[in-house]
Amino acid sequence: MSNIQDKVVIITGASSGIGEAAAIELASKGAKLVLGARREERLQKLQGEIEQSGGTAIYKVTDVTSQTQMEELAAYALKKFGKIDVLVNNAGIMPQAFLFKKKVDEWDQMIDVNIKGVLYAIAAVLPSMREQKSGHIINLSSVAGHNIYPGGTVYCGTKHAVRAISEGLRQEEAMSGTNIRVTNVSPGAVSSELLATTSDAESKAGLDEFYKVAIDADSIARAITFAIEQPSDVAINEMIIRPTVQVG
Ligand SMILES: NC(=O)c1ccc[n+]([C@@H]2O[C@H](COP(=O)([O-])OP(=O)(O)OC[C@H]3O[C@@H](n4cnc5c(N)ncnc54)[C@H](OP(=O)(O)O)[C@@H]3O)[C@@H](O)[C@H]2O)c1
Repeated sequence: MSNIQDKVVIITGASSGIGEAAAIELASKGAKLVLGARREERLQKLQGEIEQSGGTAIYKVTDVTSQTQMEELAAYALKKFGKIDVLVNNAGIMPQAFLFKKKVDEWDQMIDVNIKGVLYAIAAVLPSMREQKSGHIINLSSVAGHNIYPGGTVYCGTKHAVRAISEGLRQEEAMSGTNIRVTNVSPGAVSSELLATTSDAESKAGLDEFYKVAIDADSIARAITFAIEQPSDVAINEMIIRPTVQVG
């Protein structure tokens, strides 16, 4: 039996891109999906598609910037399936612009979704994972969590934070003997709806050019699947997945 069969997997930001692709891939391998995002019609459609293919999925409209809603998503998973095996901590936004453009609202949103949302999701699943003495938390960082480039300063800051949170969480759980695995996933350019979150025309033009080489979200879904399907004593801690021709 695959190490994914019957695992209960929460995915935040499941309504498009990498989250949606991961949901489809994991459902095809027998996982029970708990889908969260803000756009209900997308979640409903995805749930329908998974069920039509013989998979299992439930959803709950969830804004990760609300700690209450994140706790409710985890509680819903526990109520419906009795456990949470995996969190794919994926919701994120990327409104890029040079700092001098002073898009302070967008900085706040990025910090709220990309950092606080990631922490709220960890907070929501950690108690039950610790109690059952097993679990897997997969955080979506980025190549921007390893590199820094003009226009991406705040986004890079949030993705560096995700990588720091992943490593800190890994060390804390490893020393506590909870059997909780932590995987930090850092994609390069991937086709999704992420670029639509950049409102600044100059940055958007640069990103459109850079993303001409983007790979499919399925590539990242397969990497996430690989990390989950390892035996429970094997933790894939860090993965960088770029298009073959991406330089930076
Ligand atoms: N695409 C890339 O090139 C790339 C590269 C490196 C890292 N990443 C990371 O991969 C993750 C997924 O991005 P993607 O490329 O798949 O982009 P995407 O297609 O735009 O998906 C982002 C998801 O996040 C959700 N989301 C945004 N704000 C949210 C909020 N406040 N609460 C709950 N959900 C929220 C969106 O759903 P709703 O709008 O329905 O809420 C959507 O499902 C992000 O963390 C991103 O930073 C992507």
